Amino acid sequence: MLHTCLLLTVLALSVAACASLDDYRRPDGSFDGERLYMKRCGSCHEPYPREDYSAAEWTLHVEHYGPRAGLNAEARGAVLKWLNDGASAR
Ligand code: HEC
Repeated sequence: MLHTCLLLTVLALSVAACASLDDYRRPDGSFDGERLYMKRCGSCHEPYPREDYSAAEWTLHVEHYGPRAGLNAEARGAVLKWLNDGASAR
């Protein structure tokens, strides 16, 4: 009985964790990088403007902060793509 309860709790928690990233998917199933960036990367500090950094710098920042923002590899890719579309040309 205790086992069943534990299992259900673990299941419920993992479903909740998945659902939150999935809230950022577009109808076609791909991640909306802009919304992810604004909400997840903007949860600790104001989201920095895209043109503040070059694509190379954004790559490093997303590697560094992506896991802290709870982003998996696919979500980090979507955020980085959106950032690089507006990155400075430096
Ligand atoms: C858990 C909190 C947290 C999350 C989530 C977070 N950051 Fe940050 N970020 C920080 C802190 C702390 C700093 C350094 C102090 C500051 O500038 O506020 C920082 C600084 C930065 C800087 C400036 C770094 C520099 O050296 O100029 C960039 C760019 C940045 N974050 C990008 C991101 C991106 C992109 C994401 C999402 C993938 C993100 N952050 C998510 C906490 C966070």
